[in-house]
Amino acid sequence: MVQVHHYDAVIVGAGGAGLRAALEAGKRCKTAVVSKLYPTRSHTGAAQGGMCAALANVEEDSWEWHAFDTVKGSDFLADQDAVDIMCKEAVDSVLELERMGLPFNRTPEGRIDQRRFGGHTRNHGEAAVRRSCYAADRTGHMILQTLFQQCNKEGVEFYNEFFVVDLLLVDGSCAGIVAYELASGALHVFRAKSVLFATGGYGKMFKITSNAHTLTGDGPGVVYRRGLPLEDMEFFQFHPTGLYRLGILLSEAARGEGGILRNSDGERFMERYAPTIKDLAPRDMVSRAEFFEIKEGRGTGPDRDYILLDVTGVDPEVVEKKLPDITEFSRTYLGVDPLKEGVPIVPTAHYAMGGIPTNVQAEVLRNHEGDIVPGLYAAGECACVSVHGANRLGTNSLLDLVVFGRRGGVAMAEHALGNDLLDIPDDAHKPSQDWIAWLMDGESLESSAEVRTALQDEMWDKASVVRTEESLAHCLEEIARLRQRLGRSKVKDRSKIFNTELVEHMELGFMVDMAEALVVSARARTESRGGHYREDHQLREDDHWMKHTFIYKRDDGTTELGYKDVVAGRYEPVERKY
Ligand code: FUM
Repeated sequence: MVQVHHYDAVIVGAGGAGLRAALEAGKRCKTAVVSKLYPTRSHTGAAQGGMCAALANVEEDSWEWHAFDTVKGSDFLADQDAVDIMCKEAVDSVLELERMGLPFNRTPEGRIDQRRFGGHTRNHGEAAVRRSCYAADRTGHMILQTLFQQCNKEGVEFYNEFFVVDLLLVDGSCAGIVAYELASGALHVFRAKSVLFATGGYGKMFKITSNAHTLTGDGPGVVYRRGLPLEDMEFFQFHPTGLYRLGILLSEAARGEGGILRNSDGERFMERYAPTIKDLAPRDMVSRAEFFEIKEGRGTGPDRDYILLDVTGVDPEVVEKKLPDITEFSRTYLGVDPLKEGVPIVPTAHYAMGGIPTNVQAEVLRNHEGDIVPGLYAAGECACVSVHGANRLGTNSLLDLVVFGRRGGVAMAEHALGNDLLDIPDDAHKPSQDWIAWLMDGESLESSAEVRTALQDEMWDKASVVRTEESLAHCLEEIARLRQRLGRSKVKDRSKIFNTELVEHMELGFMVDMAEALVVSARARTESRGGHYREDHQLREDDHWMKHTFIYKRDDGTTELGYKDVVAGRYEPVERKY
Protein backbone atom coordinates (compact mmCIF):
# COMPACT_ATOMS: atom_id res chain seq x y z
CA MET A 1 0.00 0.00 0.00
CA VAL A 2 1.49 3.33 -1.04
CA GLN A 3 0.89 6.35 1.16
CA VAL A 4 0.59 9.74 -0.48
CA HIS A 5 1.44 12.98 1.37
CA HIS A 6 0.85 16.58 0.29
CA TYR A 7 3.18 19.44 1.22
CA ASP A 8 4.16 22.84 0.00
CA ALA A 9 7.86 22.17 0.63
CA VAL A 10 9.70 18.89 1.09
CA ILE A 11 13.36 18.79 2.09
CA VAL A 12 15.33 15.60 1.60
CA GLY A 13 18.07 15.30 4.23
CA ALA A 14 18.24 16.59 7.79
CA GLY A 15 21.84 17.77 8.06
CA GLY A 16 22.79 21.41 8.43
CA ALA A 17 21.65 22.48 4.94
CA GLY A 18 18.36 20.59 5.15
CA LEU A 19 17.50 21.90 8.60
CA ARG A 20 18.50 25.47 7.75
CA ALA A 21 16.27 25.31 4.64
CA ALA A 22 13.45 23.69 6.61
CA LEU A 23 13.57 26.43 9.19
CA GLU A 24 12.96 29.12 6.55
CA ALA A 25 10.39 27.11 4.60
CA GLY A 26 8.65 26.06 7.82
CA LYS A 27 8.10 29.69 8.78
CA ARG A 28 6.33 30.33 5.49
CA CYS A 29 4.51 27.17 4.36
CA LYS A 30 3.64 23.55 5.14
CA THR A 31 7.01 21.82 5.26
CA ALA A 32 8.29 18.30 5.76
CA VAL A 33 11.81 16.90 6.10
CA VAL A 34 12.39 13.37 4.77
CA SER A 35 15.60 11.89 6.13
CA LYS A 36 17.46 8.60 6.00
CA LEU A 37 18.67 9.27 9.55
CA TYR A 38 17.30 10.74 12.72
CA PRO A 39 18.24 14.42 12.18
CA THR A 40 20.82 14.83 14.91
CA ARG A 41 22.68 11.76 13.60
CA SER A 42 23.34 13.50 10.27
CA HIS A 43 26.93 13.84 9.11
CA THR A 44 27.05 17.59 9.73
CA GLY A 45 27.54 16.41 13.30
CA ALA A 46 30.99 15.20 12.34
CA ALA A 47 32.15 18.66 11.20
CA GLN A 48 34.59 19.61 13.87
CA GLY A 49 36.65 22.74 13.51
CA GLY A 50 34.24 25.59 12.88
CA MET A 51 32.36 27.90 10.57
CA CYS A 52 34.21 30.88 9.21
CA ALA A 53 33.04 34.47 9.02
CA ALA A 54 35.00 37.69 9.00
CA LEU A 55 33.64 38.85 12.37
CA ALA A 56 37.02 40.40 13.20
CA ASN A 57 36.43 39.57 16.86
CA VAL A 58 40.06 38.78 17.64
CA GLU A 59 41.99 40.16 14.63
CA GLU A 60 41.37 42.60 11.81
CA ASP A 61 39.45 40.90 9.00
CA SER A 62 37.07 41.64 6.12
CA TRP A 63 34.62 39.67 3.98
CA GLU A 64 36.65 40.65 0.89
CA TRP A 65 39.76 38.97 2.34
CA HIS A 66 37.60 35.92 3.03
CA ALA A 67 36.32 36.00 -0.57
CA PHE A 68 39.86 36.32 -1.92
CA ASP A 69 41.02 33.32 0.14
CA THR A 70 38.03 31.26 -0.99
CA VAL A 71 38.66 31.99 -4.67
CA LYS A 72 42.40 31.38 -4.39
CA GLY A 73 41.79 28.25 -2.30
CA SER A 74 39.40 27.01 -5.01
CA ASP A 75 42.27 27.23 -7.50
CA PHE A 76 40.21 29.92 -9.24
CA LEU A 77 37.38 27.59 -10.26
CA ALA A 78 34.79 28.99 -7.81
CA ASP A 79 32.07 31.25 -9.22
CA GLN A 80 32.90 34.65 -7.79
CA ASP A 81 29.31 35.94 -7.61
CA ALA A 82 28.43 33.02 -5.33
CA VAL A 83 31.61 33.44 -3.27
CA ASP A 84 30.83 37.12 -2.65
CA ILE A 85 27.34 36.25 -1.44
CA MET A 86 28.63 33.53 0.88
CA CYS A 87 31.39 35.61 2.43
CA LYS A 88 29.20 38.72 2.84
CA GLU A 89 26.32 36.75 4.39
CA ALA A 90 28.67 34.79 6.65
CA VAL A 91 28.70 37.36 9.43
CA ASP A 92 24.91 37.52 9.82
CA SER A 93 24.66 33.75 9.46
CA VAL A 94 26.92 33.21 12.48
CA LEU A 95 25.13 35.86 14.53
CA GLU A 96 21.77 34.27 13.68
CA LEU A 97 23.00 30.92 14.97
CA GLU A 98 24.29 32.63 18.10
CA ARG A 99 20.83 34.13 18.69
CA MET A 100 19.26 30.71 18.21
CA GLY A 101 21.39 29.52 21.11
CA LEU A 102 24.43 27.88 19.54
CA PRO A 103 27.07 27.63 22.31
CA PHE A 104 30.11 29.11 20.56
CA ASN A 105 33.43 29.29 22.43
CA ARG A 106 33.98 32.79 23.79
CA THR A 107 36.84 35.24 24.17
CA PRO A 108 37.53 36.50 27.72
CA GLU A 109 35.41 39.56 26.78
CA GLY A 110 32.45 37.33 25.89
CA ARG A 111 32.63 37.63 22.09
CA ILE A 112 32.51 34.62 19.78
CA ASP A 113 36.07 33.27 19.74
CA GLN A 114 37.82 32.64 16.42
CA ARG A 115 40.75 30.47 15.40
CA ARG A 116 43.00 29.85 12.42
CA PHE A 117 42.23 27.40 9.63
CA GLY A 118 43.97 26.38 6.42
CA GLY A 119 44.06 28.94 3.60
CA HIS A 120 42.35 31.71 5.60
CA THR A 121 44.61 34.75 5.58
CA ARG A 122 44.84 38.41 6.41
CA ASN A 123 45.20 40.95 3.61
CA HIS A 124 45.38 38.61 0.61
CA GLY A 125 47.81 36.02 1.89
CA GLU A 126 50.07 37.94 4.28
CA ALA A 127 49.63 35.53 7.20
CA ALA A 128 47.06 33.17 8.72
CA VAL A 129 44.04 34.91 10.26
CA ARG A 130 41.62 33.86 13.03
CA ARG A 131 38.34 33.49 11.15
CA SER A 132 36.76 30.22 12.26
CA CYS A 133 33.95 30.51 14.85
CA TYR A 134 33.76 27.27 16.80
CA ALA A 135 32.22 25.26 19.59
CA ALA A 136 35.26 23.23 20.74
CA ASP A 137 35.79 20.63 17.97
CA ARG A 138 32.06 19.84 17.88
CA THR A 139 30.78 22.78 15.85
CA GLY A 140 28.71 20.76 13.38
CA HIS A 141 27.13 18.80 16.20
CA MET A 142 26.06 22.05 17.86
CA ILE A 143 24.65 23.40 14.58
CA LEU A 144 22.50 20.29 14.17
CA GLN A 145 21.14 20.43 17.72
CA THR A 146 20.39 24.14 17.44
CA LEU A 147 18.66 23.96 14.05
CA PHE A 148 16.68 20.83 14.91
CA GLN A 149 15.24 22.56 17.99
CA GLN A 150 14.32 25.61 15.91
CA CYS A 151 12.63 23.49 13.23
CA ASN A 152 10.54 21.73 15.86
CA LYS A 153 9.55 25.10 17.23
CA GLU A 154 8.35 26.16 13.75
CA GLY A 155 6.23 23.02 13.33
CA VAL A 156 8.32 21.38 10.60
CA GLU A 157 7.20 17.75 10.20
CA PHE A 158 9.86 15.03 10.14
CA TYR A 159 9.82 11.67 8.36
CA ASN A 160 12.87 10.01 9.87
CA GLU A 161 14.47 6.85 8.49
CA PHE A 162 12.88 7.36 5.08
CA PHE A 163 15.20 6.68 2.13
CA VAL A 164 14.68 8.72 -1.06
CA VAL A 165 14.43 6.50 -4.15
CA ASP A 166 13.00 8.68 -6.91
CA LEU A 167 12.35 12.23 -8.05
CA LEU A 168 9.00 13.00 -9.70
CA LEU A 169 9.17 15.36 -12.67
CA VAL A 170 6.20 16.53 -14.74
CA ASP A 171 7.03 18.26 -18.03
CA GLY A 172 10.43 19.16 -16.63
CA SER A 173 9.13 20.60 -13.33
CA CYS A 174 9.44 19.05 -9.92
CA ALA A 175 6.30 17.39 -8.55
CA GLY A 176 7.66 15.50 -5.53
CA ILE A 177 9.68 12.49 -4.48
CA VAL A 178 9.25 8.82 -3.64
CA ALA A 179 10.74 7.47 -0.41
CA TYR A 180 11.09 4.02 1.18
CA GLU A 181 10.23 3.75 4.87
CA LEU A 182 12.78 1.63 6.65
CA ALA A 183 10.57 0.66 9.59
CA SER A 184 7.79 -0.84 7.45
CA GLY A 185 9.14 -1.35 3.95
CA ALA A 186 6.32 0.86 2.60
CA LEU A 187 6.72 3.30 -0.27
CA HIS A 188 5.58 6.89 0.27
CA VAL A 189 4.87 9.46 -2.42
CA PHE A 190 5.49 13.02 -1.27
CA ARG A 191 3.71 15.42 -3.58
CA ALA A 192 5.23 18.87 -3.14
CA LYS A 193 5.31 22.23 -4.87
CA SER A 194 9.01 22.53 -4.06
CA VAL A 195 11.64 19.93 -3.19
CA LEU A 196 15.13 20.66 -1.87
CA PHE A 197 17.85 18.03 -1.81
CA ALA A 198 20.33 18.29 1.06
CA THR A 199 21.59 14.73 1.31
CA GLY A 200 25.32 15.39 1.84
CA GLY A 201 28.30 13.79 0.14
CA TYR A 202 29.41 10.45 -1.25
CA GLY A 203 32.86 9.83 0.25
CA LYS A 204 31.98 6.22 1.04
CA MET A 205 33.06 5.32 -2.49
CA PHE A 206 36.67 5.54 -1.17
CA LYS A 207 38.41 3.01 1.06
CA ILE A 208 39.78 5.64 3.44
CA THR A 209 37.28 8.34 4.29
CA SER A 210 36.15 10.61 7.08
CA ASN A 211 32.58 10.15 5.84
CA ALA A 212 29.89 8.24 7.71
CA HIS A 213 28.54 4.96 6.30
CA THR A 214 25.46 6.79 5.11
CA LEU A 215 27.25 9.13 2.68
CA THR A 216 26.52 7.27 -0.51
CA GLY A 217 25.29 9.94 -2.92
CA ASP A 218 21.58 9.06 -2.84
CA GLY A 219 20.36 12.61 -3.54
CA PRO A 220 22.64 13.34 -6.50
CA GLY A 221 22.08 9.74 -7.63
CA VAL A 222 18.29 10.15 -7.81
CA VAL A 223 18.63 13.46 -9.69
CA TYR A 224 21.25 12.05 -12.10
CA ARG A 225 19.11 9.04 -12.93
CA ARG A 226 16.33 11.41 -13.99
CA GLY A 227 18.60 12.82 -16.71
CA LEU A 228 19.70 15.94 -14.84
CA PRO A 229 23.40 16.81 -14.77
CA LEU A 230 26.00 16.74 -12.01
CA GLU A 231 28.71 19.39 -11.89
CA ASP A 232 32.48 19.24 -11.21
CA MET A 233 32.42 15.65 -10.02
CA GLU A 234 36.19 15.27 -10.57
CA PHE A 235 36.93 17.58 -7.64
CA PHE A 236 37.02 15.58 -4.43
CA GLN A 237 38.78 16.81 -1.33
CA PHE A 238 41.26 14.68 0.60
CA HIS A 239 41.67 16.02 4.12
CA PRO A 240 45.29 15.83 5.30
CA THR A 241 44.63 14.51 8.79
CA GLY A 242 42.63 11.31 8.78
CA LEU A 243 43.51 8.74 11.43
CA TYR A 244 45.94 6.20 9.96
CA ARG A 245 44.15 3.32 8.21
CA LEU A 246 40.71 4.42 9.51
CA GLY A 247 40.32 7.84 7.91
CA ILE A 248 38.42 9.27 10.90
CA LEU A 249 38.79 13.05 10.88
CA LEU A 250 41.25 14.82 13.15
CA SER A 251 40.26 18.44 12.77
CA GLU A 252 42.45 20.93 10.98
CA ALA A 253 41.78 22.96 14.13
CA ALA A 254 44.67 20.95 15.62
CA ARG A 255 46.98 22.77 13.21
CA GLY A 256 45.01 25.98 13.68
CA GLU A 257 45.90 25.78 17.36
CA GLY A 258 49.59 25.20 16.56
CA GLY A 259 49.94 21.52 15.67
CA ILE A 260 52.49 20.63 12.97
CA LEU A 261 53.05 17.82 10.48
CA ARG A 262 56.31 15.85 10.55
CA ASN A 263 57.85 13.20 8.30
CA SER A 264 60.10 10.30 9.36
CA ASP A 265 63.07 12.67 9.76
CA GLY A 266 61.04 14.74 12.21
CA GLU A 267 61.08 17.49 9.58
CA ARG A 268 58.26 20.05 9.41
CA PHE A 269 58.04 19.37 5.70
CA MET A 270 55.28 21.89 4.91
CA GLU A 271 57.93 24.61 5.22
CA ARG A 272 59.21 23.38 1.86
CA TYR A 273 55.80 23.29 0.16
CA ALA A 274 54.14 26.46 1.58
CA PRO A 275 56.79 28.67 3.21
CA THR A 276 54.36 31.41 4.33
CA ILE A 277 51.51 29.52 5.98
CA LYS A 278 53.15 26.08 6.15
CA ASP A 279 50.87 23.50 7.84
CA LEU A 280 47.88 25.80 7.26
CA ALA A 281 48.12 25.67 3.47
CA PRO A 282 44.90 24.57 1.68
CA ARG A 283 44.05 20.91 2.00
CA ASP A 284 44.76 19.88 -1.59
CA MET A 285 48.35 21.11 -1.21
CA VAL A 286 48.91 19.53 2.21
CA SER A 287 47.43 16.18 1.20
CA ARG A 288 49.56 16.09 -1.94
CA ALA A 289 52.64 17.00 0.10
CA GLU A 290 51.92 14.09 2.45
CA PHE A 291 51.40 11.78 -0.53
CA PHE A 292 54.77 12.71 -2.00
CA GLU A 293 56.58 12.56 1.36
CA ILE A 294 55.33 8.98 1.75
CA LYS A 295 56.02 8.09 -1.90
CA GLU A 296 59.58 9.40 -1.62
CA GLY A 297 60.25 7.25 1.45
CA ARG A 298 59.86 9.85 4.18
CA GLY A 299 56.71 8.35 5.68
CA THR A 300 56.81 7.14 9.28
CA GLY A 301 56.18 3.73 10.88
CA PRO A 302 57.31 0.20 10.02
CA ASP A 303 55.87 0.51 6.51
CA ARG A 304 56.78 4.19 6.17
CA ASP A 305 53.21 4.87 5.15
CA TYR A 306 51.99 7.64 7.44
CA ILE A 307 52.77 11.16 8.63
CA LEU A 308 52.76 12.41 12.22
CA LEU A 309 50.49 15.15 13.51
CA ASP A 310 52.43 16.68 16.38
CA VAL A 311 50.51 18.72 18.96
CA THR A 312 52.98 18.14 21.79
CA GLY A 313 54.09 21.76 21.48
CA VAL A 314 50.55 23.07 22.03
CA ASP A 315 49.44 24.07 25.54
CA PRO A 316 47.89 20.83 26.99
CA GLU A 317 44.95 22.82 28.33
CA VAL A 318 44.16 24.03 24.79
CA VAL A 319 44.36 20.45 23.49
CA GLU A 320 42.06 19.08 26.21
CA LYS A 321 39.58 21.95 26.13
CA LYS A 322 39.47 23.08 22.50
CA LEU A 323 40.26 19.76 20.81
CA PRO A 324 38.56 17.16 23.01
CA ASP A 325 37.31 14.98 20.17
CA ILE A 326 40.59 14.65 18.34
CA THR A 327 42.31 13.81 21.63
CA GLU A 328 39.76 11.15 22.44
CA PHE A 329 39.73 9.69 18.90
CA SER A 330 43.52 9.30 18.94
CA ARG A 331 43.47 7.63 22.32
CA THR A 332 40.51 5.39 21.56
CA TYR A 333 41.26 4.25 18.03
CA LEU A 334 45.06 4.23 17.90
CA GLY A 335 46.01 4.11 21.58
CA VAL A 336 48.11 7.24 21.02
CA ASP A 337 48.10 10.14 23.46
CA PRO A 338 48.49 13.37 21.43
CA LEU A 339 49.81 15.16 24.51
CA LYS A 340 52.83 12.83 24.55
CA GLU A 341 53.52 11.74 20.96
CA GLY A 342 52.74 12.35 17.30
CA VAL A 343 49.47 10.91 15.96
CA PRO A 344 49.72 8.75 12.79
CA ILE A 345 47.66 10.34 10.02
CA VAL A 346 47.07 10.04 6.26
CA PRO A 347 44.96 11.92 3.71
CA THR A 348 41.32 10.86 3.93
CA ALA A 349 38.47 11.32 1.42
CA HIS A 350 36.51 14.11 3.03
CA TYR A 351 34.38 16.35 0.85
CA ALA A 352 32.76 16.46 -2.57
CA MET A 353 33.20 19.85 -4.21
CA GLY A 354 30.94 18.70 -7.05
CA GLY A 355 27.28 17.76 -6.99
CA ILE A 356 23.86 18.91 -8.17
CA PRO A 357 24.38 22.21 -10.03
CA THR A 358 22.49 25.20 -8.67
CA ASN A 359 22.37 28.96 -8.99
CA VAL A 360 22.73 31.25 -5.95
CA GLN A 361 19.02 30.82 -5.05
CA ALA A 362 19.73 27.06 -4.75
CA GLU A 363 17.58 26.41 -7.85
CA VAL A 364 18.74 23.26 -9.64
CA LEU A 365 20.12 23.68 -13.18
CA ARG A 366 18.86 21.36 -15.88
CA ASN A 367 21.79 21.96 -18.21
CA HIS A 368 25.11 23.72 -18.65
CA GLU A 369 23.31 26.64 -20.32
CA GLY A 370 21.96 27.53 -16.87
CA ASP A 371 18.23 26.76 -17.34
CA ILE A 372 16.49 25.70 -14.14
CA VAL A 373 14.15 22.90 -13.08
CA PRO A 374 11.13 24.76 -11.64
CA GLY A 375 10.42 23.70 -8.06
CA LEU A 376 13.69 21.81 -7.53
CA TYR A 377 16.45 23.04 -5.18
CA ALA A 378 19.66 21.71 -3.65
CA ALA A 379 22.02 22.95 -0.94
CA GLY A 380 25.01 21.82 1.10
CA GLU A 381 27.53 19.19 0.11
CA CYS A 382 25.23 17.44 -2.38
CA ALA A 383 24.98 20.71 -4.33
CA CYS A 384 27.49 22.63 -6.44
CA VAL A 385 26.77 26.35 -6.45
CA SER A 386 29.96 26.64 -6.92
CA VAL A 387 31.67 28.37 -4.00
CA HIS A 388 34.44 25.79 -3.52
CA GLY A 389 35.57 25.34 -7.11
CA ALA A 390 38.37 22.81 -7.25
CA ASN A 391 39.22 22.85 -3.54
CA ARG A 392 37.24 23.92 -0.48
CA LEU A 393 38.78 25.80 2.41
CA GLY A 394 38.21 24.32 5.86
CA THR A 395 35.16 25.77 7.69
CA ASN A 396 33.63 27.00 4.43
CA SER A 397 31.38 23.92 4.34
CA LEU A 398 29.39 24.75 7.46
CA LEU A 399 29.16 28.27 6.13
CA ASP A 400 28.03 27.14 2.66
CA LEU A 401 25.30 24.92 4.06
CA VAL A 402 23.93 27.61 6.36
CA VAL A 403 24.03 30.41 3.76
CA PHE A 404 22.64 28.44 0.81
CA GLY A 405 20.36 26.32 3.00
CA ARG A 406 18.72 29.53 4.18
CA ARG A 407 18.53 30.94 0.63
CA GLY A 408 17.09 27.67 -0.67
CA GLY A 409 14.50 27.55 2.12
CA VAL A 410 13.29 31.07 1.31
CA ALA A 411 13.27 30.45 -2.46
CA MET A 412 11.43 27.13 -2.24
CA ALA A 413 8.78 28.62 0.03
CA GLU A 414 8.24 31.54 -2.36
CA HIS A 415 7.88 29.11 -5.26
CA ALA A 416 5.45 26.96 -3.29
CA LEU A 417 3.30 29.92 -2.32
CA GLY A 418 2.99 31.01 -5.96
CA ASN A 419 2.30 27.61 -7.55
CA ASP A 420 -0.05 24.64 -7.33
CA LEU A 421 0.79 21.00 -6.81
CA LEU A 422 1.43 19.36 -10.17
CA ASP A 423 -0.73 16.41 -11.21
CA ILE A 424 1.09 13.11 -11.15
CA PRO A 425 -0.03 9.71 -12.43
CA ASP A 426 -1.58 7.33 -9.87
CA ASP A 427 1.28 4.92 -10.43
CA ALA A 428 4.09 7.48 -9.98
CA HIS A 429 5.68 5.12 -7.46
CA LYS A 430 5.80 2.22 -9.96
CA PRO A 431 9.43 2.55 -11.10
CA SER A 432 10.52 2.46 -7.45
CA GLN A 433 8.24 -0.46 -6.70
CA ASP A 434 9.56 -2.40 -9.69
CA TRP A 435 13.17 -1.65 -8.75
CA ILE A 436 12.71 -2.96 -5.21
CA ALA A 437 10.77 -6.01 -6.45
CA TRP A 438 13.56 -6.80 -8.92
CA LEU A 439 16.23 -6.50 -6.22
CA MET A 440 14.32 -8.91 -4.00
CA ASP A 441 13.44 -11.50 -6.61
CA GLY A 442 15.62 -14.47 -7.56
CA GLU A 443 18.90 -15.96 -6.51
CA SER A 444 21.90 -13.75 -5.78
CA LEU A 445 24.93 -14.66 -7.88
CA GLU A 446 27.23 -11.96 -6.46
CA SER A 447 27.89 -10.49 -3.05
CA SER A 448 27.10 -6.76 -2.91
CA ALA A 449 29.48 -6.44 0.06
CA GLU A 450 32.34 -7.69 -2.13
CA VAL A 451 31.36 -5.28 -4.90
CA ARG A 452 31.39 -2.40 -2.41
CA THR A 453 34.85 -3.28 -1.09
CA ALA A 454 36.21 -3.67 -4.60
CA LEU A 455 34.78 -0.26 -5.57
CA GLN A 456 36.30 1.44 -2.52
CA ASP A 457 39.70 -0.16 -3.12
CA GLU A 458 39.71 0.74 -6.79
CA MET A 459 38.65 4.35 -6.22
CA TRP A 460 41.30 4.75 -3.55
CA ASP A 461 44.09 3.24 -5.65
CA LYS A 462 43.23 4.80 -9.00
CA ALA A 463 41.19 7.98 -8.53
CA SER A 464 42.16 9.63 -5.25
CA VAL A 465 44.97 12.11 -4.38
CA VAL A 466 46.95 11.49 -7.59
CA ARG A 467 45.50 10.35 -10.93
CA THR A 468 46.71 9.57 -14.45
CA GLU A 469 45.04 8.67 -17.75
CA GLU A 470 46.14 5.09 -17.18
CA SER A 471 44.80 4.87 -13.63
CA LEU A 472 41.48 6.49 -14.57
CA ALA A 473 40.98 4.35 -17.68
CA HIS A 474 41.62 1.24 -15.58
CA CYS A 475 39.27 2.49 -12.91
CA LEU A 476 36.49 3.10 -15.42
CA GLU A 477 36.78 -0.42 -16.80
CA GLU A 478 36.64 -1.82 -13.29
CA ILE A 479 33.56 0.29 -12.45
CA ALA A 480 31.82 -1.15 -15.54
CA ARG A 481 32.66 -4.68 -14.34
CA LEU A 482 31.44 -3.86 -10.84
CA ARG A 483 28.19 -2.48 -12.24
CA GLN A 484 27.64 -5.79 -14.04
CA ARG A 485 28.42 -7.74 -10.90
CA LEU A 486 26.00 -5.60 -8.92
CA GLY A 487 23.35 -6.40 -11.54
CA ARG A 488 23.75 -10.09 -10.65
CA SER A 489 23.46 -9.44 -6.93
CA LYS A 490 20.10 -9.75 -5.20
CA VAL A 491 18.95 -8.92 -1.70
CA LYS A 492 18.79 -12.10 0.33
CA ASP A 493 16.83 -10.67 3.25
CA ARG A 494 13.24 -10.60 2.00
CA SER A 495 11.71 -9.03 5.12
CA LYS A 496 10.06 -5.61 5.19
CA ILE A 497 10.99 -4.43 8.66
CA PHE A 498 14.29 -2.49 8.73
CA ASN A 499 15.70 -4.27 5.72
CA THR A 500 19.13 -2.66 5.86
CA GLU A 501 20.50 -5.07 3.25
CA LEU A 502 18.04 -3.66 0.71
CA VAL A 503 18.93 -0.08 1.58
CA GLU A 504 22.65 -0.81 1.37
CA HIS A 505 22.14 -2.40 -2.03
CA MET A 506 20.33 0.66 -3.33
CA GLU A 507 23.00 2.93 -1.80
CA LEU A 508 25.70 0.95 -3.55
CA GLY A 509 23.94 1.47 -6.88
CA PHE A 510 24.05 5.24 -6.33
CA MET A 511 27.68 5.03 -5.30
CA VAL A 512 28.62 3.22 -8.50
CA ASP A 513 26.93 6.01 -10.46
CA MET A 514 28.80 8.68 -8.48
CA ALA A 515 32.13 6.88 -8.96
CA GLU A 516 31.58 6.63 -12.71
CA ALA A 517 30.64 10.32 -12.91
CA LEU A 518 33.77 11.25 -10.97
CA VAL A 519 36.11 9.17 -13.08
CA VAL A 520 34.65 10.16 -16.47
CA SER A 521 34.85 13.85 -15.49
CA ALA A 522 38.40 13.44 -14.14
CA ARG A 523 39.61 11.64 -17.22
CA ALA A 524 38.38 14.41 -19.49
CA ARG A 525 40.06 17.19 -17.47
CA THR A 526 43.61 17.08 -18.76
CA GLU A 527 45.07 19.53 -16.26
CA SER A 528 45.74 19.69 -12.51
CA ARG A 529 43.65 22.01 -10.35
CA GLY A 530 42.77 21.89 -6.66
CA GLY A 531 41.76 18.42 -5.52
CA HIS A 532 42.14 17.04 -9.05
CA TYR A 533 45.84 16.27 -9.57
CA ARG A 534 46.93 14.56 -12.77
CA GLU A 535 50.51 13.28 -12.65
CA ASP A 536 50.43 13.22 -16.46
CA HIS A 537 49.12 16.83 -16.72
CA GLN A 538 50.70 18.57 -13.75
CA LEU A 539 49.98 22.17 -14.71
CA ARG A 540 46.83 24.22 -14.33
CA GLU A 541 45.68 25.20 -17.82
CA ASP A 542 43.68 28.41 -17.44
CA ASP A 543 43.49 29.05 -21.18
CA HIS A 544 41.44 25.94 -21.69
CA TRP A 545 40.01 24.82 -18.33
CA MET A 546 38.39 27.81 -16.61
CA LYS A 547 35.14 25.93 -16.88
CA HIS A 548 32.87 23.65 -14.90
CA THR A 549 32.25 20.10 -16.02
CA PHE A 550 28.64 18.93 -16.41
CA ILE A 551 28.01 15.21 -16.74
CA TYR A 552 24.73 13.65 -17.88
CA LYS A 553 23.57 10.06 -17.77
CA ARG A 554 21.66 9.13 -20.90
CA ASP A 555 18.82 6.59 -21.07
CA ASP A 556 21.05 4.04 -22.78
CA GLY A 557 23.46 4.17 -19.82
CA THR A 558 26.16 6.20 -21.55
CA THR A 559 27.52 9.45 -20.15
CA GLU A 560 27.87 12.81 -21.89
CA LEU A 561 29.90 15.86 -20.89
CA GLY A 562 29.19 19.59 -21.28
CA TYR A 563 30.98 22.66 -19.95
CA LYS A 564 29.98 25.99 -18.40
CA ASP A 565 32.31 28.96 -18.00
CA VAL A 566 33.46 29.94 -14.52
CA VAL A 567 31.85 33.20 -13.32
CA ALA A 568 34.76 35.64 -13.21
CA GLY A 569 35.07 38.51 -10.74
CA ARG A 570 37.61 40.73 -9.00
CA TYR A 571 40.30 38.06 -8.71
CA GLU A 572 42.22 37.03 -11.82
CA PRO A 573 43.77 33.56 -11.76
CA VAL A 574 47.40 33.70 -10.61
CA GLU A 575 49.90 31.10 -9.51
CA ARG A 576 48.80 29.75 -6.13
CA LYS A 577 51.66 30.38 -3.70
CA TYR A 578 51.32 30.23 0.08
O1 FUM B 1 39.20 19.84 9.90
C1 FUM B 1 38.04 20.12 10.14
O2 FUM B 1 37.64 20.48 11.25
C2 FUM B 1 37.09 20.08 9.03
C3 FUM B 1 36.41 21.15 8.74
C4 FUM B 1 35.82 21.26 7.41
O3 FUM B 1 35.87 20.31 6.63
O4 FUM B 1 35.35 22.36 7.09
